[in-house]
Amino acid sequence: MTAQIIDGKAIAATVLNSVQARINARLKTNKRAPSLAVILVGADPASAIYVRNKRLACEKVGILSIAYDLPASTTEAELLNLIKQLNQDENIDGILVQSPLPPQIKDEHIIEHISPNKDVDGFHPYNIGRLAVRQPTLRSCTPFGVIKMLNASNIPLMGLDAVVIGVSNHVGRPMALELLLAGCTVTSCHRHTKNLAKIIMQADLVIAAAGKPGLIQGDWIKPGAIVIDIGINRLADGSIAGDVDFNTAKQRAGYITPVPGGVGPMTVATLMENTLLAQELQETRLTNLTSN
Ligand code: GUN
Repeated sequence: MTAQIIDGKAIAATVLNSVQARINARLKTNKRAPSLAVILVGADPASAIYVRNKRLACEKVGILSIAYDLPASTTEAELLNLIKQLNQDENIDGILVQSPLPPQIKDEHIIEHISPNKDVDGFHPYNIGRLAVRQPTLRSCTPFGVIKMLNASNIPLMGLDAVVIGVSNHVGRPMALELLLAGCTVTSCHRHTKNLAKIIMQADLVIAAAGKPGLIQGDWIKPGAIVIDIGINRLADGSIAGDVDFNTAKQRAGYITPVPGGVGPMTVATLMENTLLAQELQETRLTNLTSN
């Protein structure tokens, strides 16, 4: 068997086109374009590339992106002050702080101070909590992007035995919650998991988010299983590899995502959709306030 390759780039392009069409329709009714504040602290080369891709996507769909490129010496108080201003600014719909942050700034402090209504990354404990209690609003971009990708590929999720490898706050944990919401039986694996291979061998759906190149071997994949690789690992030769040994896994899987060109583009497309949603939700709140 050779797996069907899920083309994340093509699916993301359809999401971006739909966001662009919705924004164009807004502009025709004299509503303003959505706006996204994109904050980059320091000069981490990988972060600079991700942020560039996000700003380019904004340009493509018609979202106004406002760049804040801050020095690596920025203090937590300075960044919190900027976030406070952006929270209060009615012309800003979404706030994104690219991680990782320099060591003097605690990621979780920053996320907690972003208004949940502008948290287009879906990282705020409020938004993660909404997902946990089956009332999602702004959903973490990578996990929600994976769900959209599976839906677009007409892969039913209800009742599947799913395994998520990795339990990070930004990806692994919300991914497990998304799969639970979709009706899967979910197992989360992490560094203390005893027999990773055995668990993966029983799974209908394998989602790798460990950040370890080649961690998941092809012969662990149940024949016909769906394999989604969220890992983006830079190798010593400069190339990018996922967490799954793609060449061997694709001989057994039913569906598989490549790296690059799989989940990555879906993360960016979902961020664009979330920014538009944040604007729409805020408009609904304001309308409800004035009509009450
Ligand atoms: N760093 C790596 N991925 C992401 C992401 O999706 N959002 C933010 N804010 N930072 C990241």
